[in-house]
Amino acid sequence: MHVLVTGGAGFIGSHAALRLLDEGHRVTVVDNLVRGHREAATALERLAPDRFRFVECDLLDTDRLAAAAQGCDLAMHFAALAYVGESVDEPLRYYRNNVGGTISLLDALTRASVRRLVFSSTCATYGEPSEEYIPISENCPQHPVNAYGRSKLMCEAVIRDWSLARTRASAPVAFAFLRYFNVAGSDATGRVGEDHRPETHLIPICLEVALGQRPSLTVFGEDWPTPDSTCIRDYVHVEDLISAHVLVAQRLDPDRAEGREFVFNVGTGRGASVREVLDSCRRVTGHAIPAIVGQRRAGDPPRLVGSPEKIRRELGWSAKHVTLDTMVASAWAWRQAHPKGW
Ligand SMILES: NC(=O)c1ccc[n+]([C@@H]2O[C@H](COP(=O)([O-])OP(=O)(O)OC[C@H]3O[C@@H](n4cnc5c(N)ncnc54)[C@H](O)[C@@H]3O)[C@@H](O)[C@H]2O)c1
Repeated sequence: MHVLVTGGAGFIGSHAALRLLDEGHRVTVVDNLVRGHREAATALERLAPDRFRFVECDLLDTDRLAAAAQGCDLAMHFAALAYVGESVDEPLRYYRNNVGGTISLLDALTRASVRRLVFSSTCATYGEPSEEYIPISENCPQHPVNAYGRSKLMCEAVIRDWSLARTRASAPVAFAFLRYFNVAGSDATGRVGEDHRPETHLIPICLEVALGQRPSLTVFGEDWPTPDSTCIRDYVHVEDLISAHVLVAQRLDPDRAEGREFVFNVGTGRGASVREVLDSCRRVTGHAIPAIVGQRRAGDPPRLVGSPEKIRRELGWSAKHVTLDTMVASAWAWRQAHPKGW
C-alpha cells in the first residue's frame, strides 16, 4: 500500500509514517514544516529511502498536493494547526489552514483518485460535555467551544459532504474520523518523538522542567470539582493511537456501503489528573519538577474522558500502554536522547 501522510513531519504523523514503513508500506509525507521538523522527515527517509518520500508543500497548494497524491491508495490527514489558545486569537488562520487545507486535500484526492481517508479529529469537537455524557461516546452532542474545535468539526462536515457527492457521482469514497483524546508517549525504539514548538502539552512541559529548560510547571487551577482538585484528561499512547489508524484503514472499503464511514473516539476510558501526571513524571525522571498553581484557563472542562467501547467492539482495539509511567518513560527516553528536541 502507498499512503499519503499529511503532517508527517509532526508528532503523530511521524509516528504513523514510521509504523507504515515498519509494516512494509510506501509513504509520501506532505508537510509545510510550519510546526513539523525536517529532521523527522530525514530520520524517516534514512529508515527506508526506497519507500519514503518527503514533499515540502502547503495543503493549500492543491496542484502540488494532487501531484503528490498520485498513485496513493489511502490518505492519513494529520496536518493542522492545533493550539486552542492560538485558535482563539487567530480564528481566521485556523479556519483557513484547517478547513481550507482539508477542502484542498479532498480536491487533490479526487483528482488523484484516492478513495480512502483517515482524518485526525479531536475530543475538542465535543466542547465541554456535562458529567452525564462522561465517559464521552461518539454520539455525545458536538458543541466545540473554540475555533480549533470548530475548525475540526467543520472538516468532519466537509468530508461527509464530499463523500455524499462522490457516491452520487458513482465514485464512492470511504472515510474514518478518529476523535483523539490526549496523545502522549513516543516510539518505543526512540526513532521519532514529540517536539511541539511552542510546547503546550503537559507531559513534554514536565520533561522540559526535568531537563532544567523551564523553571517550573504551572498547574492551571487547583480548585476543580475532581478528587485532587486538578483537571482530568484521558491520555492515549501514540503507538496505540496509530494502531487504531491501521485497524480502521483495513476496514475502509469505498465499494461497500458498510465500509464507507467510521467514527471512533480514541481514548482509554481512564482519566488522569494533572497531579497524577506530574507525579508520574517525577517518578520516571527522578527529578523534583517544581510546580506552581496558576489561574484556571477559560474553556478548560474539569474532566474529559473518552469511552473506548465502540472502537473496542467494532475494531477490537484496546490500549496496550495503559499506565502513565509507560507513556512518560517512552517520551523521557526520546527527550533524553534529544534534549533540544529535533
Ligand atoms: N496531540 C494531541 O494530543 C492531539 C489530540 C487531538 C487531535 N490531534 C490532531 O492530530 C493531528 C496531529 O497533531 P500533532 O500533535 O502531531 O501536531 P503537530 O503540530 O506536531 O503536527 C501537525 C503537522 O501538520 C503540519 N501542517 C500544519 N498545517 C499545514 C499545512 N497547511 N500544510 C502542510 N502541513 C501542515 C505541521 O507542520 C506539523 O508537522 C492534528 O490534526 C491535531 O489536531 C492531536
